[in-house]
This record gives sequence, structure tokens and C-alpha cells, in this order.
Amino acid sequence: MTPATDLDQLALQLTRPGHGILAADESTATIEKRFSSCGIPCTEETRRDYRTLLFTAPRFADVIAGVILYEETLFQKTAEGEPLVRLLERAGVVPGIKVDKGAKPLAGYPGETVTEGLDGLRERLVRYREAGARFTKWRAVIAIGPGLPTSGAVEANAEALARYAALAQEQGFVPIVEPEVLMDGDHDIGRCAAVSETTLRTVFAALARHRVRLEAMILKPNMVVDGTKQPHRSPPETVAAHTLAVLRKTVPAAVPAVAFLSGGQSPEEATRHLDAMNRRGPHPWRLTFSFARALQDDAMRTWAGCAENVARAQDAFARRVAGNALATQGRYDASGKASAA
Ligand code: 13P
Repeated sequence: MTPATDLDQLALQLTRPGHGILAADESTATIEKRFSSCGIPCTEETRRDYRTLLFTAPRFADVIAGVILYEETLFQKTAEGEPLVRLLERAGVVPGIKVDKGAKPLAGYPGETVTEGLDGLRERLVRYREAGARFTKWRAVIAIGPGLPTSGAVEANAEALARYAALAQEQGFVPIVEPEVLMDGDHDIGRCAAVSETTLRTVFAALARHRVRLEAMILKPNMVVDGTKQPHRSPPETVAAHTLAVLRKTVPAAVPAVAFLSGGQSPEEATRHLDAMNRRGPHPWRLTFSFARALQDDAMRTWAGCAENVARAQDAFARRVAGNALATQGRYDASGKASAA
């Protein structure tokens, strides 16, 4: 057995019980879309003010162990001139960084993408470390549709994820490995399960090929759910059963933690699903969250870009965060109180 490393410890610290990871790493184009749906202008200042609002919410550091940042935020200062990274560190929250350059059309595979960003990554990682980042994220996107995904696209994405994860560990980061099977489509939960299983098998084969240390990574998968255009909505028990069945078949027990993305589920659905899975524990891995939308939706809408709404938006955010803290322990109940389970 190889001895535990500092990176193994960091992976455990980021996912300790009752804690999770906030994804606040929306690219400028993505946050612009989210802001515009809430009538918020998208400028460097509004992005800074919004992220400051999140990071200074009440009891933030009691639950949020790490925050995934976008490059702009890693080098940004609050209105008072304090680097946002220092603000997090002072609170005991570990800064992380999204390092991929986004999903681009995969040549020869209409309707499919491959995530880019490997060129020059080692050099970027050195800069990110100097700026204070300690963990990284790379998101691969797998679409379900007629004849999709192809094995070519799944393999190209798995290979890139594994090369990224190996580089991140080489440079002293805990990599979050995020293969996201999209919810878009009219497929049912069984099809999502089959595609998620194939995707995770392919990803873990690539991670092994690239000698990635499983103890020092965090898996960030989709939950196994019905497609968004599928009229039937499976209840939380069914989502939990399917997701756990897929994870058990594909994710080695050496992986310390699985931190789910929310992927377009409503905040309440995402929390209930996580809770239902943890009620079925114990599992070989910790099960927690690394949500963006499911943590932020209420807060962003409440803030709406107005200084006078900051306290109310922070309260809305704190409520979501607290609910998910309970869900990591299978103790969430929608009334907002811890249940006795
Ligand atoms: P969502 O929770 O909104 O899916 O975002 C998570 C994430 O980090 C996507 O890369």
C-alpha cells in the first residue's frame, strides 16, 4: 500500500461530512446568461459583487469546504481591495480553479463535443498555484440523443479528463474529474443509467492508464435522472437507487468522494436526491455536492443586482447551503429542519 499523501488528505478535507463544494466557476459567457435571466448587467464589478455576496454569506464556511473559481475571480479583489482568494482562506475555505477551456465541437462527430485546454496546462497550473488554488476542475460533456453518445466521443473526453487529472496531481492539486451526462432529451432514467455507466467505466479505464491516484481525486458526476423532455419524473428513491447502482458498478472504493453536479435539476430536487442517496448509506465513498445552479439560483434571483437585496440573497443562499449540509448526512427534510433519521 502506498502511504497517504497530502493530496489524499485535501480530498478528504474538501468532502468531510456535513460539507460540500460550491461551484462558482461560471465562465464569463455562462454567468452573463444566468445574470441576464435575472435582469442583472454583467460587468467585472457585478461579477465581483455577486461572488463576494456568496463568499460572505452567514455560516458559509460552516458548510462550504471549497469553492471552484473561474480564472477572473482567482485574481480579483473585493470592492475593499482584498483578494477574493484571501477572503476564502481567512474563512478556512479552500480555493479551487476551473482549468478547462470549455467543450468544443468534436471534429467528425456531429452533435458531440470534446473539452479542450490541455495545451499549456502545466504552465497555467503553476500560476494558479501561486495565486492560491489548491484543487482543480475539468468538465467533460456527454450528450444523449438518437445514436448518441458515440464511443469515439466518450473515449476522447475520457482521455482528456485523465490527462488533465494526471497533470493536476503532478502539480500538487486535487483534481475534480467531471464527466457530465446531460439531462437534455426525452430519454428515460434507464437510458441515463446506461450512458452514465459506460461513461464512468471509460473514464476510470483512462484514469488508470494515465496513473492517476484515485485516493487524491474527487469524482463529480451527474445524478441518474430522467431526460428533461421525459414526461415521467422518477421519485427521489428511484433516482437514488439508479445513481447508486451505476456508481457501485463503476467507481473504485479507493476514490474518497463523489461530489455531484446539479445539471439543471431544481434546487429542491437536487437536495432531495442527494439526501435519498445518503439515507441508503453507508457507501464506499462520501457522497456530497458540488452544485452551481442548485445552490445559487434563489440567491441570484433575490439579489437581482441591487445592493439593498444583499442580506436577503445571502439568507436564501445560506438556507440552500444548510439544506444540502443535512442532505450529505441523509438528514434533510423539506421543512428546513434536520430530520431524526
Ligand atoms: P451545476 O450544478 O449548475 O450543474 O454546475 C456544476 C458545475 O460545476 C458544472 O461544471
